[in-house]
Amino acid sequence: MRQSTPPRTYRVKSFGCQMNVYDGERMAEMLAAKGITPAPEGEEADLVVLNTCHIREKAAEKVYSDIGRLVKAGEEAGRKPLIAVAGCVAQAEGEEIMARAPAVSMVVGPQAYHRLPDMIDKAVAGERATDTDMPEDAKFAALPKRRKVGPSAFLTIQEGCDKFCTYCVVPYTRGAEISRPFADLLREAETLCESGAREITLLGQNVNAWTGEDDAGRSIGFDGLVKAIAALPDVQRIRYTTSHPNDVTEGMIAMHGEVEKLMPYLHLPVQSGSDRVLKAMNRSHTAESYLKLLERFRAARPDIALSGDFIVGFPGETEPEFEETLQLVDKVGYAQAFSFKYSPRPGTPAASFEDQVAKEVMDERLQRLQAAINRDQLAFNEGSVGRTCEVLVERKGKLPGQWLGKSPWLQSVFFEGEAAIGDMVRVELADAGPNSLKGRVLEPVAP
Ligand code: 5AD
Ligand code: SF4
Repeated sequence: MRQSTPPRTYRVKSFGCQMNVYDGERMAEMLAAKGITPAPEGEEADLVVLNTCHIREKAAEKVYSDIGRLVKAGEEAGRKPLIAVAGCVAQAEGEEIMARAPAVSMVVGPQAYHRLPDMIDKAVAGERATDTDMPEDAKFAALPKRRKVGPSAFLTIQEGCDKFCTYCVVPYTRGAEISRPFADLLREAETLCESGAREITLLGQNVNAWTGEDDAGRSIGFDGLVKAIAALPDVQRIRYTTSHPNDVTEGMIAMHGEVEKLMPYLHLPVQSGSDRVLKAMNRSHTAESYLKLLERFRAARPDIALSGDFIVGFPGETEPEFEETLQLVDKVGYAQAFSFKYSPRPGTPAASFEDQVAKEVMDERLQRLQAAINRDQLAFNEGSVGRTCEVLVERKGKLPGQWLGKSPWLQSVFFEGEAAIGDMVRVELADAGPNSLKGRVLEPVAP
């Protein structure tokens, strides 16, 4: 491969989950530390990082078509961008990408992206490189300090998964469960606040599997970490996602009643309402044990907004089993929920199960499930009308003079009035739709 000039501009395109958004931000910070600047809006970048997701659907195909588009745009502009493929598709299909897409010069997995700057130097010298190691050396320690973030910032506390649900590719792409050290997390939370964050969302595939040692060397769990972050004076709000039913502890439930800065919101995926399907998914909880957990969260924090994930059309799912999912949704009354058609992932056990469900059946089930979820989401938002709450202003709305922020229950709230990004304002919630509310600003909240 021929040599190229060092890139002056970059673009990082992240797909998929919030962990990828976080990784994308960290990669951008690394490129900035190397003196590469973000490409202006509408302009082609010298270096493009495709930070990919492998959780569902034809993710790899999408990567190839993105690469094709970049090459074509480069040809039209008479130049060749440096292309890096990062994220979970890189981890799962790195070698194939290198073989199939000569325009790609770097493939880097989610546990190795701290090595991207070196790979760029090599790519400039004409050398292609793949790095999908899951190294012991701490990726996070090698990353530059966080500098500029919005009022609501992500902080990855835990990565990987040891649960091996039979449909899921994450244990293979993100590796085994690891917890980042307590002291590093507190330091990063402080840096995020110094850089403008008011709300911190703790991220991980299973945040509640986090374990560590506090400053005194005592073992602590996820609830201990949340309490320590809440004790930082500049943190105003804490959220977390995603948690797993099997790692819920008494302390984690209790903290929802104890930690004022912890927002009343819980995303706890269940996937199905059928015990037979849950077992085939290797979920090791039942519909009943999940509902019992939610009851305990509600007892600790009665206004808690509940959220979940669902898969329809898992191999062998029958109509009555799917109806059990609808019944579970009716029982819970979610404030928000995410539902997906089952997508066979190469290398996972469920991909070779018999009785794969027909596409039309999946489409029809997904529609019914989403109708039920939308109905509950609207009911939850309508139930908030008339409430007064604090809203953290995240950005300007589309209309002149309009702002957009989040309520404690993670609802998007639009309002007009005196405010600035990063302000906490007291708002009265007025009109409700399925995905957002309109509010009336009452007063700023003293920090
Ligand atoms: N097919 C469909 N949905 C999936 N998810 C994970 N793997 C698959 C798959 N193979 C969904 C689960 C999970 C969410 C992040 O993505 O609901 O909780
Ligand atoms: Fe995937 Fe299951 Fe792990 Fe979640 S708990 S990341 S669904 S294997």
